[in-house]
Amino acid sequence: MRTHRCGALRASDVGREVSLGGWVHRRRDLGGLVFVDLRDREGLVQVAFGPGWSPAEVMERAGTLIGEAVILVKGVVEPRPAGQANPELPTGEVEVHATEVRVVGPAATPAIPVARVRGEPLAAEELRLRYRYLDLRRPEMYRNLELRHRLLQRTRRELSERGFLEIETPMLTKPTPEGARDFVVPSRVYPGQFYALPQSPQIYKQLLMVSGFDRYFQLARCFRDEDQRADRQLEFTQIDLEASFVTPEDIYAVTEGVLVALWAEAGAPVEAPFPRLAYRDAMARYGSDKPDLRFGLELMDLTPRIGEGSGEFLRAAVGRGERVRALAVPGGAALSRKDLDALTAAAKTMRASGLVWAKRGPDGPTGPGVKALGAAALEALGLGDGDLGLAVAGPDAIALPALGRVRLEVIRLLELPPSCRHAFVWIEQFPLFEREAETGNLTFMHHPFTAPHPDDAALVATDPERARAQHYDAVYNGVELGSGSIRITDPAMQAQVFERLGMAPADVEHRFGWLLEGLRSGAPPHGGIALGFDRIALLLAGGESLREVIAFPKTAAARALFEGAPTGIPAADLAALHLTVAS
Ligand code: AMO
Repeated sequence: MRTHRCGALRASDVGREVSLGGWVHRRRDLGGLVFVDLRDREGLVQVAFGPGWSPAEVMERAGTLIGEAVILVKGVVEPRPAGQANPELPTGEVEVHATEVRVVGPAATPAIPVARVRGEPLAAEELRLRYRYLDLRRPEMYRNLELRHRLLQRTRRELSERGFLEIETPMLTKPTPEGARDFVVPSRVYPGQFYALPQSPQIYKQLLMVSGFDRYFQLARCFRDEDQRADRQLEFTQIDLEASFVTPEDIYAVTEGVLVALWAEAGAPVEAPFPRLAYRDAMARYGSDKPDLRFGLELMDLTPRIGEGSGEFLRAAVGRGERVRALAVPGGAALSRKDLDALTAAAKTMRASGLVWAKRGPDGPTGPGVKALGAAALEALGLGDGDLGLAVAGPDAIALPALGRVRLEVIRLLELPPSCRHAFVWIEQFPLFEREAETGNLTFMHHPFTAPHPDDAALVATDPERARAQHYDAVYNGVELGSGSIRITDPAMQAQVFERLGMAPADVEHRFGWLLEGLRSGAPPHGGIALGFDRIALLLAGGESLREVIAFPKTAAARALFEGAPTGIPAADLAALHLTVAS
């Protein structure tokens, strides 16, 4: 039906007879002429209807064209009259003089504006998601989803070239523990039994290694019933991979290869290898296991400087074995009282009991921190004129993340300039276990298949909290891109870890027997990683929410507004699934 895409016409096409199809972006009637901006995925072109070249019935039809209707147009490409070129449009030097026009897709008045005038704000997000097919007509959405497509293709190419096979794994599965709730699907054939949608293909990819596939990857759809945030969706895509006979170094190299290629695909050259940081150091220096290394601003340990000259509160904390962690912020004295209150509130959301602050002005230090810290600690902070000192006392499990959060807030409030644009880092040597905040129970830090660090295997039995894992995270500008590990392949170690997690052997057998049997059948050493593909696409497209790089996303309230899901189902369907709804 078409000879060209709308956005493709250039001055070199002048004189050509073309057939175009697209959406009426805008229509203007000017002194006997009708101009239509015709739009498709590739852009806009101006179609001109005039009595000199358009037959009378075409002129008449042109005058009735409605925004967002789909039309087919035939005409000749002509240069725009002198002085009327539009340098902002790639097609701006030409227009198409229409000789035929046909409406093939009539349109009702759009529920949200598609052709916005410059600077006009977008419609409310709820409306845009309800009418997603219209929202997706925006050039930014075309651009984002086209970038997403290229990133998917590039991932496939990079991994295939490295010998990875793309293998699909089931969607109707048994629960895989990744720390979220499962979405479940009732079985019609087996009353009271349920499939789970995969939180990740973790067990399958390990079994593929047991089967000898050696290198696997998948652009895996994953489902997690967890609270929605800007960087989380109920269903999302991972670049999931696994390889046999590997060390973490091999996984780092493959991952770096893929990430460098993806950044290049988006026009951002970056270099590998990425620096590495042990979890302990990341926490001590940045208060985060996903530190944003575009900024310096490292935390300090003031504990040894808290003594006689310090306030009672900090002395008591140190007496209890807690620590006093601090941050010196150059230029931070510019922050207002309201800002400091906001920083205190940020620390408290991370369970800190408070935030101590001191400013240094021309007449020396001021603020409640002066007394609280005392001269020795204040000196160690090394505040210069105009600087701000901040400190949190508490057990490291609280003080470090609280100050890490404060660090990010400070960076935001002061609009500190980043020292570079792209800061990748590997975080390694995570603890194998952690304590659940609410219950105090031992739980896995990542998932229960992660192998302990070779030097710490014995600690799993004797002092599990000190055992480090062969687990690594890929972090970029303060965002966790992905997580992976070397897996446990020794069934005895796997059993020991389950025992540490307080799981009864019968429960373990019921949930994971299928993996454990596999591991006993001849399992090569193996490991892998999963990268959050939507997050990568968002970072490279630039934007705020994953909804900008997913064609049909869920809202923050876990709804699919465009289709109205979730929804009730007829009683007969419920009955067929052996279900009754309790309330
Ligand atoms: P993990 O659970 O850390 O690891 O997930 C890997 C990466 O997936 C992304 N991600 C998400 N993206 C969008 N919405 C979500 N709800 C969401 N949850 C996670 C993150 C995260 O870093 N099986 C292991 C991997 C392995 O060990 O090989 C796993 O799934 O970017």
